[in-house]
Amino acid sequence: MLKEVCDNLYFCAVRVLYIVVIVCFIAVFVSFSAPDKESDKLTIEQLGEMLFFDPILSEDLSISCASCHKPEYAFADTSAFSVGVHGRLGNRNTPSAMNVLSRETLFWDGRAATLAEQALGPIENPVEMNLSIEEAITRLNNSKYKELFKQVYGTVPNKDNLGDVIAAFEATLETSDTPNDRWINDEPNGMSEQQLRGRSVFRTKGKCLECHFTPDFTGDEFRSIGLFNGKEYNDSGRYNATKDPKDIGLFKVPGLRNVAVTAPYMHDGSMKTLREVIDYYDQPHTLVPDAITRDSLLREPLNLTEQEKQDLESFLHALTDDRFVKK
Ligand code: HEC
Ligand code: HEC
Repeated sequence: MLKEVCDNLYFCAVRVLYIVVIVCFIAVFVSFSAPDKESDKLTIEQLGEMLFFDPILSEDLSISCASCHKPEYAFADTSAFSVGVHGRLGNRNTPSAMNVLSRETLFWDGRAATLAEQALGPIENPVEMNLSIEEAITRLNNSKYKELFKQVYGTVPNKDNLGDVIAAFEATLETSDTPNDRWINDEPNGMSEQQLRGRSVFRTKGKCLECHFTPDFTGDEFRSIGLFNGKEYNDSGRYNATKDPKDIGLFKVPGLRNVAVTAPYMHDGSMKTLREVIDYYDQPHTLVPDAITRDSLLREPLNLTEQEKQDLESFLHALTDDRFVKK
């Protein structure tokens, strides 16, 4: 009899202990994983990122923004012309979609004024994603994105918030962990002696700074380095957007951050390496003797020495964000 009571008491105690342990366990688990309402809410930038990588915005669901703006190449492409829907090729090189926050206009000819406006361009472009904005909005409203937009905006997807969300993601793609930035800020691991010599060529004898200035190395002006002669070089650039004859052959000066990972170069992707670019600036008349609107800064050859060319190239490498430097 006494033994039975003891046994029961013993089992009771074990059970209680068991329950207490489980409750504690659940409490700890919940406190770690419980959605903290604020931090768990999808942000506009995250929603934009999802769309940037989602082929839902292309006619045949095969192409996303990231098909051409590849994250591993600073959101640019490695071929002269990128492949859009049905294997179609465009006629301009894909620029980096990074460091675009401060740009005054977008595209090589500056035809878009804001990132939000720009984002709708490739969706409708027949050689890129080839989907009407109307159809894109219908698709989004018939997908998981309907709820996600409601969460972020309180409204379902529409023409305005679609551009806004993608732009919000692009605005996060700024880079500043480079040897050049560290050197400017007097921090360790700045530029090498060679890069500093290259910086000097960039600013003086090379005249690069005349057009590639500001922290992103572009003043957002439209200039011509002479890649237009109306024959084999026949993209009239800024003129397409303005129809002003004095804009023929002018292109938006591209920023140079991460330029070492965004080859090939120029609006037509015609230069494969930085060395080719430097050789061009050195003797522009050799490649295109009959350029129609070449800037007066490029009227005379630079006559850089071999050492100066190598130093300049080395400086351009100092503009690469650490995340793209192969370890
Ligand atoms: C098929 C390839 C392709 C796709 C898909 C594509 N782009 Fe582009 N992107 C380009 C090309 C080519 C240009 C330059 C076109 C021009 O200047 O006329 C460009 C230009 C841009 C620019 C301007 C950068 C600057 O400095 O002026 C941004 C930003 C951009 N794209 C973002 C996007 C977004 C967002 C998407 C998806 C909605 C997208 N792209 C889809 C090829 C593509
Ligand atoms: C007169 C203004 C001007 C000067 C001076 C100038 N650039 Fe440029 N740069 C441009 C323009 C405009 C483009 C785009 C041209 C095109 O695509 O037709 C460009 C393109 C480039 C590109 C290609 C970037 C890309 O993403 O495709 C590099 C690299 C470059 N320049 C480096 C330099 C260097 C180095 C110097 C000095 C030796 C220099 N630039 C001098 C205006 C200039």
